[in-house]
Amino acid sequence: MAKILITDGMDKGAVQQLKDFGFEVTEQFYPEPELIQEIKKYDAVVVRSATKITKPVIDGADNHLKLIVRGGVGVDNIEVAYAESKHIKVMNTPGASSDSVAELALGLMFAVARQIPQADASMKAGKWEKKAFSGGIELAGKTLGTIGMGRIGASIARMAGALGMKVIGYDRFPETARTRNVPLVSKEELVKSSDYITLHIPYDKVAGAELTAKEFAMMKDGVVIINCARGGTVDEDALLAALNSGKVRGAGIDVWVGEPNPRRDLVEHPKVVAIPHVGAATGEAQGRVGGEVVQILKEFFKK
Ligand SMILES: NC(=O)c1ccc[n+]([C@@H]2O[C@H](COP(=O)([O-])OP(=O)(O)OC[C@H]3O[C@@H](n4cnc5c(N)ncnc54)[C@H](O)[C@@H]3O)[C@@H](O)[C@H]2O)c1
Repeated sequence: MAKILITDGMDKGAVQQLKDFGFEVTEQFYPEPELIQEIKKYDAVVVRSATKITKPVIDGADNHLKLIVRGGVGVDNIEVAYAESKHIKVMNTPGASSDSVAELALGLMFAVARQIPQADASMKAGKWEKKAFSGGIELAGKTLGTIGMGRIGASIARMAGALGMKVIGYDRFPETARTRNVPLVSKEELVKSSDYITLHIPYDKVAGAELTAKEFAMMKDGVVIINCARGGTVDEDALLAALNSGKVRGAGIDVWVGEPNPRRDLVEHPKVVAIPHVGAATGEAQGRVGGEVVQILKEFFKK
């Protein structure tokens, strides 16, 4: 039976299902130099985001590895084209975490609008700063601009609509957008007319950041920026400048350029709610991811 390496952890029930099915399962994280040595022992590897399947790792597989499964959405930690050139299939679980990421983005919007984490930190420091936290804003009645109208974009649009927000979307590939009654507009129109802007797109290494100083200059004063997409989709220098100038009221950030060591000036900024890339980190999402990974492996190795 096929040998499966799980490097970044997986839902316990799903691991058990793989074992019950007869797969030989190893759960072990390897730093890259060790992974290059070990990978050739396996038929398939399952990763989340910590493990990078680089060209040297793929070369280390010595034509033995047949399948790479990314438990999650983005495959930017995998050299997909190179793997495929070596006849290694790359698969992911695109829909399993959409609602979890959308709920987190919404949670960050509330957190920024009412400074909930800052108020909590102040209370825990023994203070009662009612005045300092009296300048909140509402979500209801505001315009939410969603950049990327795919699975997560559509999910947050549904949730935000239920809160009484007016949702508009921009998608670079409108023919694939899951608009579900959300009007699609140009990026410029979205940037100019939104009170809250949330990103749900992959990072494009060639095009770079989607929100740069040019877009920040066009935004409404007091806009809220939420990034649960990928580090780099928002230019971090431009965001910092816009926070300092007051153009941006606050930002909720789950994803960072320098993960796992993001720049401290943004993390520690008083207007930033900072969290460590936990968009898909719910029991429900990981349960669904695990279930989909099990299906992928069973299907692939039944041939
Ligand atoms: N924070 C987390 O833990 C977490 C978890 C899952 C996914 N994500 C990120 O969320 C992103 C979106 O996930 P999804 O499941 O909705 O993907 P999806 O493929 O269903 O949707 C992405 C949409 O964005 C559009 N798009 C791509 N590039 C664009 C650009 N530059 N500008 C505007 N639109 C663009 C696509 O046409 C597509 O409609 C993923 O690519 C991933 O980077 C983050």
